[in-house]
Amino acid sequence: SQVQDIESVKVKAAKDMAFVFDIDGVLVHGDRLIPEGKRTLEILNGDNELGIKIPHIFLTNGSGKPEAARIDQLSKILHNPIHLDQFIQSHTPMRALSEYYETVLVVGGEGYKCREVAEHYGFKNIVVPNDIVAWDQTIAPYRQFTAEEKATSRPRDFSKMNIDAIMVFSDSRDYATDMQIIMDLLRSENGRLGTMAKDPISQRIPIYFSQGDMLCPTEHWTPRMSQGTFRIGLEAMYKALTGEELERVVYGKPELATYKYADEVITSWMETIHQEEKLPKNIYMIGDNPASDIIGGNNYGWNTCLVRTGVFQGGDNDENNPANFGVFTNVLEAVKTAVKNE
Ligand code: G3P
Ligand code: MG
Repeated sequence: SQVQDIESVKVKAAKDMAFVFDIDGVLVHGDRLIPEGKRTLEILNGDNELGIKIPHIFLTNGSGKPEAARIDQLSKILHNPIHLDQFIQSHTPMRALSEYYETVLVVGGEGYKCREVAEHYGFKNIVVPNDIVAWDQTIAPYRQFTAEEKATSRPRDFSKMNIDAIMVFSDSRDYATDMQIIMDLLRSENGRLGTMAKDPISQRIPIYFSQGDMLCPTEHWTPRMSQGTFRIGLEAMYKALTGEELERVVYGKPELATYKYADEVITSWMETIHQEEKLPKNIYMIGDNPASDIIGGNNYGWNTCLVRTGVFQGGDNDENNPANFGVFTNVLEAVKTAVKNE
C-alpha cells in the first residue's frame, strides 16, 4: 500500500544519514547536561515515528581519560547508552601509533590517567614527565615534587634508554616541567636524556599532539589556553634554541586524519546497528566551534550544523567558517531539521 511505501522510503532515508556529535558545548558543558541533548539521543536511539535507530557517533577533541571511563560518565549525564564503537576522543586514533614506537613519553592530563590511556592503546613502555622528575629532580628546577608524586611515579635510569616518540595526549598541568622535558628530548640524540644531538634534525624524535584547539571554554569568564597554544609555545622555543623549525603531527578536529578515522567508525557502526557495512550518503556534523567542528566538516564534505550552546556566540552564521547546513539554537533543533531534510 501507499502507506507502506512511504514508510519504507523513510526507513531507507534514516539509514542514508548519520550524525556526528561534538560533545562539549553541544551535548554537555563539562559534567552538566545540555537538556536538549538527552531528547536528541532518545530520538536517534529509536524513539521516533519509525522506531528505527538513526546512526550517530561522537567525535570530541576531549582527552585525558580512557574511552570506557569517559563513556560511562557521559551516558549517565545524557541518560542514553553510548557504545565504545561509536566514540572518538582526540587521542583515540593515536592508538595506531603503538605499533611503531616501543618507548613513549606521554604528556598531559590529570595525575597518571594518560599513562592508563596509553596502556589501553597498547603502548608497551610508557614514561610520563613525573617518572623523569623522580629520577632527576634537577631537570625541572622550579618544580615542587610532592612525596605522593614521588611514591606514585616510576623512575628508571633514563640515561640508559631511548624514548622513541613524544605524545601530548592532553592539556599540560605543568607547562614549565613538561616544556623543559619535551625540549630536552627534542634536542637529544634519539631521545636519550643526558645527550645533545649533533644533528638536530636527523637525530630528533617525533612529537605528536592529540588536538590543536587554541582555547577551551571553562568556568572562567574568558576561554583558557589549550593544547594549540602549548604547541605554539614549544615551536617558538625550539626555533629560538636550535634555529630549526619543529616538525610535528597534530590529530583531532579539524585535522583530515581524524575525519577519515570517523568515516571508518561510522561505517562499522552501520554494520553493528543495521547489518550494512556502508557509509551513509549524508553525514551531519553538529558542533559549537567553527574553528574545529565546522571547518573540518566543511572541508570533508559533510553537512555542518553550528549550535549556539557553546563556543559560537556570533550573529547569523560564523564569518570565517560558516556552517553549510545552518545555525541552530541547540542540538535538538539541528537534528530535527536534518531529519526533515532527508
Ligand atoms: O577543547 C577540548 C574539549 O573540551 C573540546 O571538546 O567535545 O567540544 O570537541 P569537544
Ligand atoms: Mg565543542
